[in-house]
Amino acid sequence: MTAPHDNRLITKAVIPAAGKGTRLLPLTKAVPKELIPLGTKPVLEHIVEEVIEAGISEVLFVISEQKTAIRTHFGDGIGSVRFEYTFQTEQKGLADAISYAQDFVGCDPFAVVLGDSIIDTNQKILPFSRVLNTFAETDAAGVIVVQKTPRDEVSRYGIVKPKDGIAPSFPIDGLVEKPDPADAPSEYAIAGRYAFDPTIFDYIRRTTPGANGELQITDSVGLMLDDGAEVWCVALQDNEIRRDIGTFESYFEALQIEINKNSNPQQ
Ligand code: G1P
Repeated sequence: MTAPHDNRLITKAVIPAAGKGTRLLPLTKAVPKELIPLGTKPVLEHIVEEVIEAGISEVLFVISEQKTAIRTHFGDGIGSVRFEYTFQTEQKGLADAISYAQDFVGCDPFAVVLGDSIIDTNQKILPFSRVLNTFAETDAAGVIVVQKTPRDEVSRYGIVKPKDGIAPSFPIDGLVEKPDPADAPSEYAIAGRYAFDPTIFDYIRRTTPGANGELQITDSVGLMLDDGAEVWCVALQDNEIRRDIGTFESYFEALQIEINKNSNPQQ
């Protein structure tokens, strides 16, 4: 590890939130899935709070013409934190959504935070902050949060291939999107928080359709590794749980945890 440099300090975050939310119909017919309630506030507000707590001062939401309610909800910013919006015209995958952030990002390193999952933690340092710290302390071109996942669920996620072994943060030498359990290089699944230097845009341009026929950011990071760049992971600890609202099953689970928290506020 090397000492942090100012140009490794991340203050910009991109939140892709343009997906159609088809797995949550009819709930998401008029309401963006990121705005469905998780307790007293929408899911996305929990995520925005996490991003601000980690020291981000500029946020770009990638939305669609059907999801302007996100802009209505969040407006231009909160305090000194500025919010911007851009419109993805066609849903071609996560890598395509991130490509809309190129002007916003310019020459700066930046974070990507998926708009449909939150991470519960009782660690002193948030997992997202650990991603930013790992980016600052290494020469990595990309850093990704990962979570140990049962092998029979790996085909839902991007799965990483650790270079040496697992540690609180560790380098990888491969990754694959939605593998068959038999082919998965590990049980560590990508969990929706990333940091990148702006070279990722070159790799996104070279990415071809992958799993589900979509442009996958996992494949763009693979091209980055092929070029010899370092990519690191930050592992969620045993007591850290990712709650995603992608399906009714996972949404109800996330909601139940929130209800329990609100009825036992000391937990
Ligand atoms: C996306 C990513 C995948 C990651 C997952 C959860 O997949 O492509 O690598 O594991 O989010 O963060 P999606 O849920 O959009 O299919």
